[in-house]
Amino acid sequence: MDYFKRTKIKDILQKDIESYQDVKVLGWVKTKRVSKNIAFLELNDGSTVKNLQIVILNPSDFALEEINRGASLKIKGYLEDVPNREQSIEMKAEKIDIIGTAPDNYILQKKEHSFEFLREIAHLRPRTKTFSTVNRFRNKISYAIHKYYQEKGFQYIHSPIITASDAEGAGEMFKVTTLDFENLPKNDQGEVNYQEDFFGEQTGLTVSGQLEAEVMATALGDVYTFGPTFRAENSNTSRHASEFWMIEPEMAFCNLEEMMDLIEDFIKYLFEYAIEEAEEEMEFFDQNIEKGRKETLQKIINATFARITYTEAVNILKKADQSFEFPVEWGMDLQTEHERYLTEKHFKKPVLVTDYPLGIKAFYMRANDDNQTVAAVDCLVPEVGEIIGGSQREERYDVLKKRMEEENMNIDKYEWFLELRKFGTVPHSGFGLGFERILMYISGIKNIRDIIPFPRTPGNARF
Ligand code: 4AD
Ligand code: MG
Repeated sequence: MDYFKRTKIKDILQKDIESYQDVKVLGWVKTKRVSKNIAFLELNDGSTVKNLQIVILNPSDFALEEINRGASLKIKGYLEDVPNREQSIEMKAEKIDIIGTAPDNYILQKKEHSFEFLREIAHLRPRTKTFSTVNRFRNKISYAIHKYYQEKGFQYIHSPIITASDAEGAGEMFKVTTLDFENLPKNDQGEVNYQEDFFGEQTGLTVSGQLEAEVMATALGDVYTFGPTFRAENSNTSRHASEFWMIEPEMAFCNLEEMMDLIEDFIKYLFEYAIEEAEEEMEFFDQNIEKGRKETLQKIINATFARITYTEAVNILKKADQSFEFPVEWGMDLQTEHERYLTEKHFKKPVLVTDYPLGIKAFYMRANDDNQTVAAVDCLVPEVGEIIGGSQREERYDVLKKRMEEENMNIDKYEWFLELRKFGTVPHSGFGLGFERILMYISGIKNIRDIIPFPRTPGNARF
């Protein structure tokens, strides 16, 4: 069982090891330097961005000519402390087994490749320093999300991937079907007859787990989802993916104000977690992606998020010392340029914008007493824009039904959703945090294609 008897390089470099003798490491060669009487290999095993230096004291005893950058090796040897060096421990090799060679044409040579080029080789980019770091970071922040909600007593629930309901009502669903495109069944009106489809009705990939989260919250209390989400929206921007991950907490007996406190606490928790528990990754981002990233996050942890209503936001934008491509009018949806002005120029910190016009928001949001606005909240942050969208939910049966009718929704199809309001209805609230967006914001990575390992965007589902 070689596999389990190996030591991870991260543990070696942290000297978190039982013995300096008979150590076995498995990994890939990053560099090789050979001279007559001594040779050095830098080995990486993915557990840390750092490499372990392997020292070979009798190079002629090893088949070093077969070992190139990219080759996979098993090395047995002993460890030695080497004071006054950046890495204060190294390994002296006693036995080297080549597991897989790497020919000279291995594409990841030592020079730096552009992010654009690396997207073309998504199967190899996790081997670079930047993308191994991004993936380790993704892993750690995923864990942080579960830790945060589990410690608060929220229950992790699984909402379906295939669904018949368009939770956002925005018509951006990818279709799921087994119908034969060459021979589509039609009804009397000449429309596709989805009754003959696999599920007996039209289905698609979920755009949000919210509706099911509401079902669970009105039974279990506090719940959250954390899963993949799909949107067939043709937005080719640096912040939109067709498949992304979303965290959707949903809380029974909770109003908008209370939820906003949770949002602020949650975001700050993730920042703190990143700084303290993803130290190596944050150091890497701070050095290589955006200088001063850690300091920026620290400032936000110590600041209070701005809280304004949509109407206040519109007034700020109307008085702005710059012009916008989309002129600002009450009732319009805020565009990226407006969101960025608010959070980057005006407040210079995260902003929670509430009480949007009813007409531009989803059917499930609770109508305010003015009947013009809804109890919605968006969280905007510098550079990335919107990272969170959420609301207090409409818990009044009649009000919700009327709203759904106004939106020409098929009431029969959503009767189950309405029924939550019929039996023991409660005020409840929830939001969705785009996982990639928060990772971009913490790390300073500018394009969503570089924060998700296998990005799906319009025209691209390779790898
Ligand atoms: O604002 P959205 O559309 O809200 C919902 O889906 C609600 N049902 C959430 C809820 O209340 N439970 O999406 C929520 C967040 C956005 O703020 C954004 O961070 C992210 O999901 N998001 C995307 N991230 C990447 N690519 C896309 N195409 C995204 N669309 C939304
Ligand atoms: Mg939104």
